Amino acid sequence: MNINLRTNYTATTNDLSAVIQADRKHLWHHLVQHKPFETIDPKIMVEGKGMRVWDATGKEHLDGVSGGVWTVNVGYGRESIANAVRDQLVKLNYFSGSAGSIPGAQFAQRLIEKMPGLSRVYYANSGSEANEKVFKMVRQISHRHHGGKKSKILFRERDYHGTTITTLSAGGQPERGAQYGPYTPGFVQVPHCLEYRSQYPDVDDYALAAANAIEDVILREGPDTIGAICLEPITAGGGVIPPPQGYWDRVQDICRKYDILIHIDEVVCGVGRTGTWFGYQHYGIKPDFVTMAKGVASGYAAIACTVTTEAVFEMFKDNPDDPMGYFRDISTFGGCTAGPAAALENMAIIENENLLANTSAMGARLMDNLRALQDKHRVIGDVRGKGLFCGAELVSDRTTKEPVNEKLAQAVVANCMAQGVIIGVTNRSLPGFNNTLCLSPALIATADDIDQITDAIDHALIQTFN
Ligand SMILES: Cc1ncc(COP(=O)(O)O)c(C=O)c1O
Repeated sequence: MNINLRTNYTATTNDLSAVIQADRKHLWHHLVQHKPFETIDPKIMVEGKGMRVWDATGKEHLDGVSGGVWTVNVGYGRESIANAVRDQLVKLNYFSGSAGSIPGAQFAQRLIEKMPGLSRVYYANSGSEANEKVFKMVRQISHRHHGGKKSKILFRERDYHGTTITTLSAGGQPERGAQYGPYTPGFVQVPHCLEYRSQYPDVDDYALAAANAIEDVILREGPDTIGAICLEPITAGGGVIPPPQGYWDRVQDICRKYDILIHIDEVVCGVGRTGTWFGYQHYGIKPDFVTMAKGVASGYAAIACTVTTEAVFEMFKDNPDDPMGYFRDISTFGGCTAGPAAALENMAIIENENLLANTSAMGARLMDNLRALQDKHRVIGDVRGKGLFCGAELVSDRTTKEPVNEKLAQAVVANCMAQGVIIGVTNRSLPGFNNTLCLSPALIATADDIDQITDAIDHALIQTFN
């Protein structure tokens, strides 16, 4: 079957019934209840080009969430990345990360150029793993430099840092962790900073109150027990939450006051998503650790980075005769050269095509369109975002801010999907609050793409709520 497309691109599909049968029989999809697949076919994606993907039925979709989970920042079908990976693989596909590699060193250098104040890159293969590296570094610093004190790590309500038991222990989304305990001890939650859902209705300065709430936790636990705080610069899956003005300044002051290392989880925001290279760069943050994964190579290869300062690195450069004095960690696939080879080309594309500027411009358009939808649809209680990373929170009552039932939020997503537009929603994260539509189109989005996404949401809201 040949399908002619608006984009002048022609996707060719063959009969995929054998693939669908193999999938139904043997594949275990992520985050999905499989009972319905006893009677209906699972969705199988076959091909992608630019902003669009085609499924096994030949249906075209405009992808408003960059591969479902805000990953494919430079869009689908990038031959230059595929060629860079191919060239590297035939030269040297792998060697353990105890040795260096040409693309590994080159990408580390290019990355550090974008991150003043940081100097060292540690490779791994997923966002969860990159975050665990920080947790291990903090624990080792505690053992070697604080006599076992300062081992606790703070995390924030609504933030997410990964899927392993320990990153779930640092997770502020109870539904993600439910049924997977017991958890790793030593992780302590601080309150969220979503002003729309203010926990402090009587204060004048919400940002200050939300930041001071962190200090309250530090004083309760004891500052000498806490080594680090792990925060998303803008909370992603917990509802797309850009922090209120002034929040980060105060958080930083508090951390410096109590000698607490700042770990910024840029797994979603990193590498252009918000219109700067990194989300923290909007807020004047000076992090001690930055972790990143998804957009680093836009999903063309698995790569994650834990980036830190020379001061942290120096703490692990110790007596060479001491067999325990260095960071005794390995990630087998952190030695795959495809990751940094893809990441180098991914970064070059963002620069050559001026995609940070496009992200800011198209992000502003997306926010304007969402605000116009908010004027039109009472069910939109709040819209939030930065760059091409936006959310619209749905409420059944604007005065009480009662969240819509999550089934209705999911019905909006399904309606958009039926129209051929993929959007996301906070998904089994926060009990009662899985009500925020999430948008994260690729950084190459055009004005037409943005309008098509918000037109589909407009239509879906009319059909779902009128
Ligand atoms: C903010 C954040 N950190 C960490 C992760 C975990 O990344 P991965 O799924 O690559 O382990 C995610 C995944 O969605 C995330 O959104």
